[in-house]
Amino acid sequence: MEILIHDSPEAGAKVAARVVRKIIQTKVNPVLGLATGGTPLRMYKELIKMNHAGELSLQNCTTFNLDEYGGLPPEDKRSYHYYMMSNLFDKIDINKDNVHLPQGNANDLREACREYEKQIKDAGGIDLQVLGIGANGHIGFNEPTGSFASRTWVKILSEQTIQDNSIYFDKLEEVPRHVVTMGIATIMESRHCMLLANGAKKADAIRRMIEGPVSASCPASILQMHQRVTIVLDDEASYLLTFKDHYKWVEKNKLDWQLY
Ligand code: PGA
Repeated sequence: MEILIHDSPEAGAKVAARVVRKIIQTKVNPVLGLATGGTPLRMYKELIKMNHAGELSLQNCTTFNLDEYGGLPPEDKRSYHYYMMSNLFDKIDINKDNVHLPQGNANDLREACREYEKQIKDAGGIDLQVLGIGANGHIGFNEPTGSFASRTWVKILSEQTIQDNSIYFDKLEEVPRHVVTMGIATIMESRHCMLLANGAKKADAIRRMIEGPVSASCPASILQMHQRVTIVLDDEASYLLTFKDHYKWVEKNKLDWQLY
């Protein structure tokens, strides 16, 4: 695992945006896996800035989002469709025919999940998958104890995640109980994963992911088995790491071509 620790979420977002830029600039038709939530917002702002400054075009990109709430139509302001349009896609030069999110309100959810997997495969797989992490260690909406072999499917949110995400809804009861999410196996097939986390609230999940045993009790810990993972943290999210000094040492001694 490549672990990059920065003083602030702003500094981390800049590095994360440069990781995305590098993939886009080295691939003819890059395929990006994208995430929602509070964490990637700063990185999206950086990408928008690069796009507006003429430094980066996303015209040739195809995107697949990690997850979506069940039952919310795309125009619902709390849906991840709406989030992606308003926080990124409406503000950059991407071709919207090439953006994909799971269909949380499809008539046949199971068929929609199978189709989503096929679309990812037909696009040639994901070059870079951006991830956040839940305080309980989830990635996408894959909650603790879910199968590491899972594919895009309908899942039930844990009570903790419902509580955490209720800040985006008027009432706790309005948070959908079921969601559609890429599975752990889907995420693991991405050629490069980049996970972002900030704040002390994530520190325990980060410790378990990086330094704990690989266990479905902390779904993100499976990333220890992935061949190419970049983890971008702020100081607070990294404060429980036993080998924090080592990670900083490694970063300081990188070769030029290993930097972003
Ligand atoms: P957050 O969510 O970015 O809003 O903290 C991350 C997640 O639950 O995966």
